[in-house]
Amino acid sequence: MTAEPHPIRIERVAESRAGGLDLASIPFSSVFSDHMLVAEFADGRWGEPVIQPYGAFLLPPNISALQYGISVFEGLKANRGPEGEVFLFRPRENAARLNRSAARLALPEVPEAMFLHGLRELIRIDQAWIPAGDAGSLYVRPCVFSIDESVRVKPAERCLFIIFTFPFGSYYSAPVDVLVTEQYVRAFAGGTGAVKPAGNYAPALIADREAQAAGCGTVMWLDGQEHRYVEECGVMNVFFVIEDGAARRVITPELSGTILPGVTRDSVLTLLCDMKVLAEERKIAIDEVVELHRAGRLMECFGTGTAATLSHIQRIRYRGEDLVLPAVEARTIGPAVRERLVAVATGRAPDTHGWLDRI
Ligand code: COI
Repeated sequence: MTAEPHPIRIERVAESRAGGLDLASIPFSSVFSDHMLVAEFADGRWGEPVIQPYGAFLLPPNISALQYGISVFEGLKANRGPEGEVFLFRPRENAARLNRSAARLALPEVPEAMFLHGLRELIRIDQAWIPAGDAGSLYVRPCVFSIDESVRVKPAERCLFIIFTFPFGSYYSAPVDVLVTEQYVRAFAGGTGAVKPAGNYAPALIADREAQAAGCGTVMWLDGQEHRYVEECGVMNVFFVIEDGAARRVITPELSGTILPGVTRDSVLTLLCDMKVLAEERKIAIDEVVELHRAGRLMECFGTGTAATLSHIQRIRYRGEDLVLPAVEARTIGPAVRERLVAVATGRAPDTHGWLDRI
C-alpha cells in the first residue's frame, strides 16, 4: 500500500515509557503511548503535521468542539505479527469514514495521504507499545475537532487533526448481557448513526447506566421510528446465529443509514463468506429474535467493533424476559470467525483480502 509522502515534523520524547510494561494486560484506555500526531487546519488548509510527546493541550473554554460537539473520531488497531512485524488493519477504511464523519459535521476533510503517512510514522515511532503475540493490540484513535473560539453555531474554520494510541488486551473480558431499550434511541433517519461524531456516544450513557442498573453490561438498540428492529448493541454492530435445519446461518441488520458501517462488521461478513456460512444483511425485528429463542433456534449472538473485536452476548433482556443463549463453549460460528479475524489481523493467517498495511 502506498501513500504520497507528506512532510512531518518529529519531536521525540527523551526516553520511552514503554519499557517494562506488560502491554497486553493494560486495561483499555489507561496508559497512553509516548507520542501523538497533531495537525492544524486554518485559513482553508492543513498545516504540517507534527509528531510530538503525548500530552495535554492548552485550549480556551469557548472552542466549539466543547460547546457544540463539533468533533469526529475513528478507531483502528495495530498488531504484531509472529516475527515481530507491525500491521495496521484496513486503515484506508478509517481514513474514508473519518472524512464521511467530517463532511457530515461540516468539518474539513483530512487528505488520505496525510492521514496514512502520519499514522504510519506515528506507529513506526511508537512500535514498542504494540503488544507481542495475538493477545493484545495498539488501539489508534484519530480525531478531528473544531478549535474555533466562538460561541456562534457555525461550521469550523480552525480545527485540529490528532492521532494518539494506547495498548490494551481486551475491551470486554467476559460475554456481555444486554438490555433491549425501548426508551432511548441511538440514531434516526437523517441523523448521524452511520458516521462517528463524538455526539453519538454521550446520549447513550444514560441508557447504559439503566442497563447496568438492570444487571446488564450494555443496551441493544432498536430503530428510532418503530422501536421494533434491532440496530446495534452498545458500541458494536450485532450478529445473530440461527439454526436452519442442520446448518447455521447468520443475520445482521442491513446498513440502513442509521447503523454504523463497521470495519469489523464488514470483515466478519467477508470471513463468514470465506467459511461458506450464509450471512444475511436484513432487518430483524426484536419479536423475531424472541420467537427464534422460544423455538430453540437462536444459537448465538455477538457484537463486533474495533475495540471489542467480537464479543459474545450471553443474555438478552427484553420486557422483563431473559433470553439466555447457549454457553460460548457450545458456539461454533462466533468463536471461529473471531479466531480467523485475529489470525489475519496479526499476520498469522494469509491476508487474502489485502487488509494489512505492513509498517
Ligand atoms: C471502537 O470500537 O473502536 C469504537 O469506536 C467504539 C468506542 C466508543 C470504544
